[in-house]
Amino acid sequence: MYENLPKSASNFVDDVDKAFLFIIGISIFFLVAITVTMIYFIMRYRKEKNPVATQIEGSTKLEIVWTVIPTIIVMFMFYYGWAGWKPMTQIPEDNFPITSVSRMWSWSFEYPNGRVTDTLYVPEGENIKLDLVAADVIHSLYIPAFRVKQDMIPGTDSEMWFNSEKPGEYDLFCAEYCGLRHSYMATSVIVLPQDEFDKWYNDSTLMETAATMDPKLAGLAVLRKNGCNACHSMDGSKLVGPSYKGLWGMPRMVETDGEMREVIADEEYIKRAIYEPNADIVEGYQKGMMLSYKDMVTEEELESIITYFKSL
Ligand code: CUA
Repeated sequence: MYENLPKSASNFVDDVDKAFLFIIGISIFFLVAITVTMIYFIMRYRKEKNPVATQIEGSTKLEIVWTVIPTIIVMFMFYYGWAGWKPMTQIPEDNFPITSVSRMWSWSFEYPNGRVTDTLYVPEGENIKLDLVAADVIHSLYIPAFRVKQDMIPGTDSEMWFNSEKPGEYDLFCAEYCGLRHSYMATSVIVLPQDEFDKWYNDSTLMETAATMDPKLAGLAVLRKNGCNACHSMDGSKLVGPSYKGLWGMPRMVETDGEMREVIADEEYIKRAIYEPNADIVEGYQKGMMLSYKDMVTEEELESIITYFKSL
């Protein structure tokens, strides 16, 4: 899914690329110039050609030159960097806000009408403001094709914005090491033409809510919305947490208050596992890897998750 060369698809691309190319151009120029000079000096002043070393006392003129020129170049680098970065901090009043939540190790996006998705959908040509929320540790939201990246710090409000004129699908991932499955913390941003976005946004049959869906699928939708599959598989494979497969109604060994005991995976057990994930730790797994989802999963949603587990 990762491209070698980033696509270009937002209002920030030109300025960021200009600064980048300016800096890399100067760097390549000096890399070549210094290397060539160095090789020339090695040849020209080696021992056979120049047996007696010359003591040079210094040159004020030369010192001024090699101080002033680099200072001017660096000030230009600063200027291009600043000019490209400043507009990113000036969020237009007229914007479409989407709350973006990051947690170990998944993303979710909440739209003004209450829809929640694990992929970011945005309309073409509109100013999109992302309100950034980190649920647990520091993450960073990075969209290379848009040239935007912003750290997300727990307990601190931050925001970012962009405007994309190019419909398409682009990578979105976490750019701050946030633990074991950091590298799996990736999704997409999908830019849709305005009419297609409106259709998607207002289509109530697409609303993934417990009320409108088959109860089995509703449970799956709740798991997806909360990013549960980042750590729990559906097929029995072992990730950070236990798989859902073969869970319902089966006995399992857990550690409770330092003592091993056998429990049956019933409604009571699953509720505890979601609301107090560190109370019972399944044998072979680590404590402290999951936060309570009490504020994120309602009792009704919990029911639908259990219905879904029963169907596996
Ligand atoms: Cu989240 Cu890395």
